[in-house]
Amino acid sequence: MSSASTLGVGGPLFLMDNNTHIKELEQFHKQYPSMSLVDDLLIETLICIIMKPSQVWELGAGNGNWCSLMNHCSRPNNTEFTLVENFALAKINDIKAAFWRKHYPYQFTTQEELISHMSNFDIKTNYFSDVKDLPTYIDKKIDIVRIDLDCPRGHDQHKLANWILDNGSDNLVVIADDTLTNKSFHRFMIMQEQVAKGNLRLFWIGRDTSAWCRPKVDIEPFFHFASKFKNYYGSMKFNRPYTFFGYNQKYLIIRRHAPYSAGAEGKNT
Ligand SMILES: C[S@@+](CC[C@H](N)C(=O)[O-])C[C@H]1O[C@@H](n2cnc3c(N)ncnc32)[C@H](O)[C@@H]1O
Repeated sequence: MSSASTLGVGGPLFLMDNNTHIKELEQFHKQYPSMSLVDDLLIETLICIIMKPSQVWELGAGNGNWCSLMNHCSRPNNTEFTLVENFALAKINDIKAAFWRKHYPYQFTTQEELISHMSNFDIKTNYFSDVKDLPTYIDKKIDIVRIDLDCPRGHDQHKLANWILDNGSDNLVVIADDTLTNKSFHRFMIMQEQVAKGNLRLFWIGRDTSAWCRPKVDIEPFFHFASKFKNYYGSMKFNRPYTFFGYNQKYLIIRRHAPYSAGAEGKNT
């Protein structure tokens, strides 16, 4: 992954004005929906644009549309996306997965269907089935990982966090979805445990998603870039300087004070 100091030399979408970027994102998300809020997707695209990752992984990739959107908004890029999705779960009594498959378009029941769908996009992809079967070590270290699943019983989400740290590049960014306190809050807390150990720092809390990076990553260019979208959100602020777990880390907080745009109203999870 190139250094964050390369801010300003992104792809064509990066060079567009903010409104065009948002419109493009909304249009793509409408056509190829994932289970995410536009408000959070926007920040995630900014992370992908500014970090210029080589390897992006999505754990619980579903229909692959999140990866496609990240790829679309950060083009031209040199990014390989690895999609981890276990379609065997379509056959078990998982209420959340069953809901998702019933109500969302682009529901696939086999990896072959997902691979065929992804071939519609100009995107480099790799595939794995279940997180519990991932190789202990991977050669191409992960720059950005999005966690959008909970480990199956018998497999430990803490182990997953350790696996990510072992296989993350020096510029590792971890994005976790559904981190609201009344949703998958354990995903937030498990990463905060890594903050307490000095392995990660929190840098963004969105409407439903949060993100961490290795403590040495220079995240200031991201803050600077994101602040250009302040008008879209109506407000954008940083945390108060409390010390948690011995660390006082600056993180961006976004919520939405401006009227919601199409696609941003809500999501069904
Ligand atoms: C909430 S859905 C998210 C789908 C997609 N990321 C999106 O934004 O639309 C979570 C996905 O994780 C998958 N999943 C759950 N446990 C898994 C596991 N152990 N290994 C691989 N995929 C898993 C489910 O099948 C489901 O498709």
